[in-house]
Amino acid sequence: MNKARTDNVHLLEHSLVAAKMSVLRDKTTATVQFRRALEQVAILLLTEASKHWSTLVRKIETPLAPMAAATLARPVVFAPILRAGLGLLEGMLRVIPEAEVGHIGLYRDEVTLRPVNYYCRLPDGLPQSHVLLLDPMLATGRSATEGATLLKAQGATSIQFICVVACEIGIGQFRSVHPDIPIYSAAIDPELNEFGYIVPGLGDAGDRYFGTL
Ligand code: URA
Repeated sequence: MNKARTDNVHLLEHSLVAAKMSVLRDKTTATVQFRRALEQVAILLLTEASKHWSTLVRKIETPLAPMAAATLARPVVFAPILRAGLGLLEGMLRVIPEAEVGHIGLYRDEVTLRPVNYYCRLPDGLPQSHVLLLDPMLATGRSATEGATLLKAQGATSIQFICVVACEIGIGQFRSVHPDIPIYSAAIDPELNEFGYIVPGLGDAGDRYFGTL
């Protein structure tokens, strides 16, 4: 892939993630297993994305001795793009239950494939927070681009985009507008078909997560 496009793209190369991805990609995987695997991959992506978040030191006492311990320096906001982004939210909230959640409602016009904004409710305090924009599929890249634009318009300065499968076209589109925002993905697939689906991909992430196939 073109170097400029891979800058700031973090591909999670990890055996456990690869095994979970096989579950997600397999068309015979039932909804309950799909949900569980997506939530687990979300936690692994969050672990990677938060690796270098700054921490503050606070004094605690273990049962054996006092020590200086770490605490996250900034609050965390999860911003799932509805509806499929909710599939990443569940697992992440298990790890950071105190995080605030903003919802971004975008649907894809089936003809133009462009995102249409129908709902956006974001918490205050975006400028001070680590903001994770969530959408499992970085396909055309237009929804993620629009989502990031909405977050910046509300003052977010520290944004990371988290997806499960990306493709080159989507990465290029996102990068062209938001080169400052790092992308974290569990896979990068080669193609986008004429219907805007990533190939081989995993199908419609929202339908598979919510069981609406
Ligand atoms: N959205 C999905 O759910 N799947 C794709 O492959 C592309 C967009």
